[in-house]
Amino acid sequence: MIILGIETSCDETAVSVVEARGTLDSTHESVRFNVRSQALYSQVKIHAAYGGVFPALAKREHAKNLVPLLKKAVHDAAIEQIKEKSNFNEEKIKKILERETGLADMLLKHSADIDRPAIDAIAVTAGPGLEPALWVGINFALALGEIWHIPVYPTNHMAGHLFSPLITAGTTFQFPVLALLISGGHTELVVAKDWQNHKVVGQTRDDAVGEAFDKVARLLNVPYPGGPAISRLAQEARDANSTPQFSLPRPMLDSGDFAFSFSGLKTAVLYLLKKFDNMTDDVRRQVAREFEDAVTDVLITKTTHAIAAYEPRTLVIAGGVSANAHIRDAFEKLAANYPDLNLYIPPVTLSTDNAVMIAAAAYISILSGAQPATTIKAAGNLTL
Ligand code: KG4
Ligand code: ZN
Repeated sequence: MIILGIETSCDETAVSVVEARGTLDSTHESVRFNVRSQALYSQVKIHAAYGGVFPALAKREHAKNLVPLLKKAVHDAAIEQIKEKSNFNEEKIKKILERETGLADMLLKHSADIDRPAIDAIAVTAGPGLEPALWVGINFALALGEIWHIPVYPTNHMAGHLFSPLITAGTTFQFPVLALLISGGHTELVVAKDWQNHKVVGQTRDDAVGEAFDKVARLLNVPYPGGPAISRLAQEARDANSTPQFSLPRPMLDSGDFAFSFSGLKTAVLYLLKKFDNMTDDVRRQVAREFEDAVTDVLITKTTHAIAAYEPRTLVIAGGVSANAHIRDAFEKLAANYPDLNLYIPPVTLSTDNAVMIAAAAYISILSGAQPATTIKAAGNLTL
């Protein structure tokens, strides 16, 4: 089946067309995805001025970019057009999109120009995320479902991250799956017993790892988003053999559970920086390196304990922070100690937010019996 994915939970606007096949039944052909197109517009530059994501601005940008991205995604996917104009009620579309400035006009104009593409279903992120941002994608998906007369499936963003490794050809999950999901809004260890049953066994009590990267970046005067910038600074310190002359805490390392806490680490960086008369480039590099090492130690230790406790056959590391090269390396080294454990980390383009993973997660929930929705509510705190 061909699924159009839509993702607007944070500061990436993404639309993608994915061809999905296979079943969840292990005796049959397993699920496979063919990414037909991936259109994405990142708003990071726009939000950089605010040092973080500014929800009202994200909402406006999503509304502005969804139709151009839809056009591109459908065009690039080169899907067959059904040679008929869609029959739909214009007033209904205007009503669905009444809160999304300018979007109804853009979508109606676009729909008047083209034939209906042969897409079977729409998958849209319903949460978790920033509610004003989520609403734009949801209303857009519902309007499009109405125009094309196809079902719309609300989809969990974290399920998207969890299943994102399956998009790469040749990957299959063997259960139980242990997943470490690390992003700007989440840090959680999830155990999946099978395709349907996922349990969060540990999560952060305060800041998410990505949030800690972003806040420390601000302290080091590097632009938002902090992850890539800190990672670059830390690598410069390693390349120059510049070993930090100080150490940062490894929070909750011995807490005996799978909980995380990163806000103290950020505060420790704040106090550490006060000790230096001026923040030279060398200090910034060393702080970035020690911070990245501290975060990596915590993630590796907690995951090692979770492997011992849950004996997974598949280990997934996903979410925006899994784009970090140092963290990826550390997990590859860890997994080498477990010959019976398959480690999957999605490629960088599928680590950070995207719409392919939303289409993939929707396909898995469709195979699990999920029903389409005619009304969907944004759920900022939706959990797995
Ligand atoms: O999954 P994602 O794109 O969005 C959310 O769902 O939150 O994750 C974004 C987060 C940001 O905090 C960003 O700083 C972080 O992922 N990130 C990184 C790297 N690339 C992105 N963190 C560390 N190293 C990176 N290379
Ligand atoms: Zn995400």
